[in-house]
Amino acid sequence: MVIRMTSILILNGPNLNLLGTRQPEVYGHTTLDDIRALCVQAAEDLGCTIAFEQTNSEATLIDMIHDAPGTHDGIILNAGAYTHTSIALMDALAAVELPAIELHLSNIHAREDFRHRSYISKVALGVICGLGPQGYPLALRALHDHLV
Ligand code: DQA
Repeated sequence: MVIRMTSILILNGPNLNLLGTRQPEVYGHTTLDDIRALCVQAAEDLGCTIAFEQTNSEATLIDMIHDAPGTHDGIILNAGAYTHTSIALMDALAAVELPAIELHLSNIHAREDFRHRSYISKVALGVICGLGPQGYPLALRALHDHLV
């Protein structure tokens, strides 16, 4: 029998490729590559594997969620603005039945009203928001602890 390490899929949605230069007053100066490095280090410390992805496409996010079972044990999702609009992403997470943590760099509840509604929250194990890049390793630790 082959026993594989716990594997967590970290998905980043639209505009997060621009981190570092995008509205630094809201999102800071940390780039997505910096965040990837934080996650790689955290995964090494925890003894799990990760896949770290970014796409601007809602369809690609959905496809990556569909493909996760069998390869990954849980999902961390920063869906960007699709958080507030996408019933399809919510349905995809519900369909695959993997534990998922919703993540945001900014505190969406302290921002515009339209950011207060999250479809992802309805199917997420938990939510981390407002803690900037450190939210990613925190989410990894929380999901890892939930899984093992
Ligand atoms: C975000 C918050 C969303 O409201 C926004 O559309 C983003 C980034 C965050 O990480 O703070 O693109 O998900």
